[in-house]
Amino acid sequence: MFNFNQKNVLVVGGTSGINRGIAENFARVGANVAVISRSQEKVDDTIKSLRALGSKKVAGRAVDVRDAEQLKNQIVELTAEIGRWHVVISGAAGNFPALAMNMSANAFKSVVDIDLLGTFNVMQSVYPYLQKPGASIINISAPQASIAMIAQSHVCAAKAGVDMITKSLCVEWGVEGIRINSVVPGPIDGTEGMARLAPNDAMRDAVKKSVPLKRMGNVDDVANLCMFLASDFASYITGAIIPVDGGWVVSGAGSMNSILAAAMKS
Ligand code: COA
Ligand code: NAP
Repeated sequence: MFNFNQKNVLVVGGTSGINRGIAENFARVGANVAVISRSQEKVDDTIKSLRALGSKKVAGRAVDVRDAEQLKNQIVELTAEIGRWHVVISGAAGNFPALAMNMSANAFKSVVDIDLLGTFNVMQSVYPYLQKPGASIINISAPQASIAMIAQSHVCAAKAGVDMITKSLCVEWGVEGIRINSVVPGPIDGTEGMARLAPNDAMRDAVKKSVPLKRMGNVDDVANLCMFLASDFASYITGAIIPVDGGWVVSGAGSMNSILAAAMKS
């Protein structure tokens, strides 16, 4: 359905879970793919997989998105290896359930720094190296950006900020033919994010029941939306916050608050 031959795709936070699934799906449809995350081991493993899936040019760097200078330097190097970016996915994130009164300022800051400041750092670092016109940027957001959840004040604040970066840069960069959208995954099966929020079968079942489509999503569900947004089929879509969540957000993300409240008591 999609052909990304000769297209260059950068996936920040692309070495596990949802973002790795996105990177691998772009590799399957012929894109050159680069990934960034903190762990060199995860970067190396992902590069191997991307090559096996068909990417002609692959690359990766171990960088923490909180380190703006290091990130800028490494993106300069990756651009020299791969070329200007047609597609950038920014999805590095951290999460742990913690009540606001049980969190240190540094705990709150660590999530804001990875998710929100990290997104800003990625946007600023890639901007000079985007294919203009035509680049498509996708920020990976979360339901917490619009749904208040117990034990998630840090994530709610950070991801709401991510969506406002998407909207702000839509109006700043549209004139140069750059599109930017947020993708909002719902509960995605087999991921670190869900393992942290719903760590046992009873909690997972309650989450599934609360999704209008009565199942968790999978990484391909999210990757399919990203490929559409990165393609010419989406050439008039920018500044949008788009859920891929089986209807979870419109239904209020169901039982998440009671699940998290119970987990905080145990
Ligand atoms: N409850 C309360 N505070 C917590 C916590 C928890 N479950 N886990 C970590 N913290 C606090 C730490 O105590 C520390 O605060 P302190 O310095 O006041 O003690 C602060 O958060 C930072 O922790 P640290 O482990 O030093 O941060 P890090 O930068 O090494 O790791 C995290 C960042 C904490 C977000 C870590 O969980 C991570 O790397 N996550 C990435 C993977 C992930 O979250 N995936 C899901 C994505 S949705
Ligand atoms: P994950 O597997 O933990 O993925 C996080 C990725 O980001 C990893 O590659 C991690 O690699 C990297 N990363 C973390 N901190 C980083 C940092 N400081 N600098 C650079 N890279 C960093 O989590 P996931 O559950 O798949 O979540 C992926 C994205 O989807 C996140 O943006 C999350 O908020 C969003 N999301 C997930 C769900 C879900 O159901 N899982 C739902 C809604 C939204 P390293 O450890 O090597 O750094």
